[in-house]
Amino acid sequence: MGLEAAGDFQLAVPWWRPAGGQSVRIRGGRPLRGTYALCGAKNAVLPLMVSALLTPHLVTLRNVPATLDVAVLAALLRRLGAELHWSTTDARLSVTICASRIDPRAIDGDLVGRMRASVLLLGALLARCGEACLPLPGGDDIGLRAVDFHLSGLRAMGARIEVAAGVIHASAPAGLLGADILLPQPSVGATENLMLAAVLANGTTTVRNAAREPEIANMAACLVGMGARISGLGSHTLVIEGGLPLVGAVHDVIPDRIELGTLACAAAVTDGELMLRGGRLDLLGAALPALQSAGVDLREVEGGLIARRAPGGLIGIDIETRPHPGFATDLQAPVMALLATAKGASAVTETIFEQRFRHVGELGRMGADIAVHGRTAMVRGVPRLSGAEVTCTDIRAAAALVIAGLGAAGETILGGVAHLDRGYERMTEKLADCGADVVRSDR
Ligand code: EPU
Repeated sequence: MGLEAAGDFQLAVPWWRPAGGQSVRIRGGRPLRGTYALCGAKNAVLPLMVSALLTPHLVTLRNVPATLDVAVLAALLRRLGAELHWSTTDARLSVTICASRIDPRAIDGDLVGRMRASVLLLGALLARCGEACLPLPGGDDIGLRAVDFHLSGLRAMGARIEVAAGVIHASAPAGLLGADILLPQPSVGATENLMLAAVLANGTTTVRNAAREPEIANMAACLVGMGARISGLGSHTLVIEGGLPLVGAVHDVIPDRIELGTLACAAAVTDGELMLRGGRLDLLGAALPALQSAGVDLREVEGGLIARRAPGGLIGIDIETRPHPGFATDLQAPVMALLATAKGASAVTETIFEQRFRHVGELGRMGADIAVHGRTAMVRGVPRLSGAEVTCTDIRAAAALVIAGLGAAGETILGGVAHLDRGYERMTEKLADCGADVVRSDR
């Protein structure tokens, strides 16, 4: 798998191993009960790990999720010359990254191809080393997922960029310059890439129509802790004063709001009750009222949230995915699995990615009544799903199939489990600890 370069990650996380050809068997119908410890957000930790490349000083990240994507990015950073030291305190994983010497030419193309977030190396390496050369990034097959906003923003900052034979060649021999950039759409990755480049550029960069996801504010807080000057956090306009020397920092990764929403759905579907340790309502944006209307009871308690089915049962709702604080596209599939057995009909509209309905066919194999018309899936709730052999096609589709399997009658066999492990730390094991009948097997 090429992950040996993740270094002592394996020692810090002894249970971890790449999922490879594993499958998961779920026998549904058992209510989940107990405490489920949420991890740091996958989509926060990846840009934070790349931020560490901007300084020769030590950056320590705490509350790191031990997911496959983190292992892949760790391996990529090590190939570039960074040193990574992992440690565990109170079951929380931390990593300290030392990027005192970086070779921007030591990119591992295979690893880049496995993860969309690797495109963030472009902004960081250009800013730190004046050059970057990497294959167009891979990741989930959920739409076109172009990088044109990233490239045109970096070009506006003075980078020379060519794309040939699927490889991005970028250079800025005289350094990057601050610029006024308007994003055509509030792209999460482009906002992050431009922030990475702008903190080391000469002059001030303004990013208009910037994404406002909590993971961006978390990354900006880390950069500010490293000495950067960034204003407008949480708004559509970020102003970054570049060129300040960056020092080391110790930073906490925010809790994973998508893991939170996923597990809340799982608790409600099985009519159980989970204490989601580390969960916070304020992270959910429009997903909070949507989940509540669908019959998911969420209550803040000390140290986290209690999630369970509301007394009135699950009820169909209409949702439309939007950039934050709108309904998160990453929760669309998990919530659709919940709506599959809700009373009445639901219209689920996906506006962020063109091909994010690949779970629909798999849910159909389990008895769900879902018809896709363009960007909208019409879900007619059925009393119960039934177990089937299904395949995970992306991270959130995998989460949806787990939720469906937990609530279904009989046995569900999931293939393509590596998708689940890309974004969720030990999900199947943690579910088993909460009473689910879930086992992994090699096949
Ligand atoms: N887009 C372009 N050109 C660009 C950039 C984006 O056309 O240069 C389009 C995309 O094709 C998409 C839309 O803009 O239609 C939004 O994409 P965005 O750039 O915001 O997404 P991303 O940065 O590729 C991150 C998360 C995704 C999450 C989206 C939206 C990470 C590593 N990935 O992707 O997470 O769905 O934001 O919130 O942060 C997941 O965790 O399962 C996942 C896919």
